Amino acid sequence: MKVMIAYTSKTGTTEECVERLKAALDGMTVETVRLDEKVPDLDSCDILILGAPVRFGKLPKCVRAYLKENEAKLLQKPHALFLCCGLAHEYDFYIENLYSDALRASAFLVENFGGTLSYEGQNFFGKILIHAVRSTIRENEIEDGEYTPEMPSILPESIGKMATYIRKEAEKLQKA
Ligand SMILES: Cc1cc2nc3c(=O)[nH]c(=O)nc-3n(C[C@H](O)[C@H](O)[C@H](O)COP(=O)(O)O)c2cc1C
Repeated sequence: MKVMIAYTSKTGTTEECVERLKAALDGMTVETVRLDEKVPDLDSCDILILGAPVRFGKLPKCVRAYLKENEAKLLQKPHALFLCCGLAHEYDFYIENLYSDALRASAFLVENFGGTLSYEGQNFFGKILIHAVRSTIRENEIEDGEYTPEMPSILPESIGKMATYIRKEAEKLQKA
């Protein structure tokens, strides 16, 4: 039983989530594939997990291209989806708009793995954008009476939930 995790990551957060998921799947055969480097061979796995960060309200180009070419095949494969995003309150909007209805409806799990708004690894433009978003979160939360504004972070419980669902799906496939 082989699990493939296909993803991309611009500044490392999605990659860290994938590493944590892989660690939580200890004992299972797991292959990770970066979609900006390679197209995964769907025939070589039993379960596919697809995940990506949101940037400018979109999925990265390589993920959109991958889905355009391979969605029909992916729909036939047991699969789960996740997103990493900095704006937690926009997650529902992103999930409904960035992955197709068919892909979400047939997934055994769709999860928000959280995200970070870190300056690390950003170029000059990215740093300005991160600064602007962090300031907006701070201002909104202070207006709402929250004096210790919370910045987004990776959600370990969501990654743990994904690992549990993958194990359950693998058991189901083994029994079938
Ligand atoms: C240039 C840029 C644009 C971003 N755009 C969005 C966005 O539209 N919505 C959002 O929720 N987060 C946005 N983010 C936050 C990223 O989703 C978040 O930093 C995520 O953890 C990045 O994952 P990665 O390190 O795997 O690339 C943006 C971050 C950067 C640097």
